[in-house]
Amino acid sequence: LSLYGRMYPWSKWRKHAALWKVDSLRTYLPDTAKLTPRKLLQFLEKYPVVFLKPCFGGGGRGIMKLTMRSGKVRVHTHTDRYEVAIDQIYSHMIRKIGKKSYILQQGIDLMDLQGRQLDFRVVLLKPGKKWRYMGVMGKWAPSGQIVTNHCRGGSSIGLSQALKSSLKLEELRQHELDAELREMGYRIAAALEASFPLITELGLDIGIDRSQRLWLIEANTRPQYNLFKDHADAGLYPQIQSVVRRLRQTRKR
Ligand SMILES: Nc1ncnc2c1ncn2[C@@H]1O[C@H](COP(=O)(O)OP(=O)(O)O)[C@@H](O)[C@H]1O
Ligand SMILES: [Mg+2]
Repeated sequence: LSLYGRMYPWSKWRKHAALWKVDSLRTYLPDTAKLTPRKLLQFLEKYPVVFLKPCFGGGGRGIMKLTMRSGKVRVHTHTDRYEVAIDQIYSHMIRKIGKKSYILQQGIDLMDLQGRQLDFRVVLLKPGKKWRYMGVMGKWAPSGQIVTNHCRGGSSIGLSQALKSSLKLEELRQHELDAELREMGYRIAAALEASFPLITELGLDIGIDRSQRLWLIEANTRPQYNLFKDHADAGLYPQIQSVVRRLRQTRKR
């Protein structure tokens, strides 16, 4: 792998596999597999909702949500909703995605607000020897969409606002979850670094489900930080920017 490839591992599958090796982190990982005919049927039998995601890619592109409904598979994409017979589903998907590699993932029953699901972006940076937890911001899906990505029209929302409005949590519990996100962030950073020693930036997509359980949806090693322009702490975005600028400059030398 090139230096660039080692600094920014892209494969969702490889990153999942690296984290799965750490027993104590498995509780945060949704069941994930490479797409095969057998796994697709297994997942559809086992989980009420299954996500299909391109192994390489971002910005919510190419993501599909599958749900079983009276013996048929309901497919929900960025633009369409339709049904496919279960015995046709794999060949249908292959026609749709061609040769691209895809992963399957257990759907997380994300918390929502006004019927639009929410998840969170946690940022950690490594300017020196240690990871630094920078902060967290909520991402709120547009109505009718299956992804919360900013470039797909998702909006930003503060953590405590999200927890208060969606799950009706009181302040004490909000602080507990905030602390848990931070702790989870550090542990994931350490585990990823063990497999990908050159990473210095992390944008973790973390979902909180309706029973307040935390799930890692994906780990980005070259994230966008625009979301943090809306953070309640106005100084945070410039701070992130300056650390990231330094990190990326050091890389070039
Ligand atoms: N397993 C899942 N359960 C529920 N929602 C998901 C799941 N996987 C992805 N999503 C939704 O889709 C968004 C994009 O998925 P993600 O894995 O982050 O891919 P991308 O690299 O395109 O951002 C997530 O932020 C989340 O809103
Ligand atoms: Mg993402």
